[in-house]
Amino acid sequence: MAAKRIDGRAIAAQIQAELAARVAALKTRGVTPGLAFVRVGEDPASKVYVGRKEKACAELGIISETHVLPEKTSEAELLALLAKLNANVRLHGILVQAPLPKQISESTVFSTVLPQKDVDGFHPVNVGKLMLGDATGFRPCTPAGVMELLARSGVKTDGAEVVVLGRGNIVGKPLAALLCQKGKGANATVTICHSATRDIKTHCLRADILIAAMGVAEFVKADMVKPGAVVIDVGVNRVPDANSKTGTKLVGDVAFAAVEKVAGLITPNPGGVGPMTIAMLLQNTVRAAENSIN
Ligand code: GUN
Repeated sequence: MAAKRIDGRAIAAQIQAELAARVAALKTRGVTPGLAFVRVGEDPASKVYVGRKEKACAELGIISETHVLPEKTSEAELLALLAKLNANVRLHGILVQAPLPKQISESTVFSTVLPQKDVDGFHPVNVGKLMLGDATGFRPCTPAGVMELLARSGVKTDGAEVVVLGRGNIVGKPLAALLCQKGKGANATVTICHSATRDIKTHCLRADILIAAMGVAEFVKADMVKPGAVVIDVGVNRVPDANSKTGTKLVGDVAFAAVEKVAGLITPNPGGVGPMTIAMLLQNTVRAAENSIN
């Protein structure tokens, strides 16, 4: 039997409806949440992602401003802009879209955004709080979105074998840390697999919950999935497609058509994790605005 699909768009819409009430409450107290986006260069995927985030902010009543800097921008120029955004009291959140051009150190940039405005959850203070299970920090949006998807889909993580494919700082590592925290909606036994892992398939076949976040198109095949497992696809990969007008198409890290026949529950892609990343960014921004007056 084909797996049930997790409707990420519907779950994200439900979260946005909940946030709308919080935005309205803030406005009665004279505060409109404000978020600054910073994009450096013309990476096509980053343009699309930032565009979607701007639109979601406008729909919820968050004021956003976008700063687009040229590809050749120096690190010092970007840090100077961040100093201004940090000092602007109307801005509760700042998001610098990754990847950045090679002359700019991402870790320096992420450490420069004030932790209380770091709605991306990339500042070392917020990364540390995540590791410590301290809920006062901001969680990075994609891992937080996956946790929320699992919780709102009724997936039992307590004691579950979870395999995370990918060890990146944006998804794999923080997601693994969230899943193994002691507490409701977590408490899982987590294995991280990466490019040096021997026999990934054996690990995958043990997973009650398999999360693909390594950025390899359709890496997870049907014979790597335990029948009935929950499969979450975080990947976004552009691949050649002779049938499309643009000559390319987007696919996830999961070979969806085949895996859907084996899994019990699966995220479609698009329409699974992507909308949740945006919902979590909105949630972090609303919380940053609330923190600014509480
Ligand atoms: N690039 C890919 N994912 C993200 C994200 O969640 N935040 C930022 N800032 N850049 C990204």
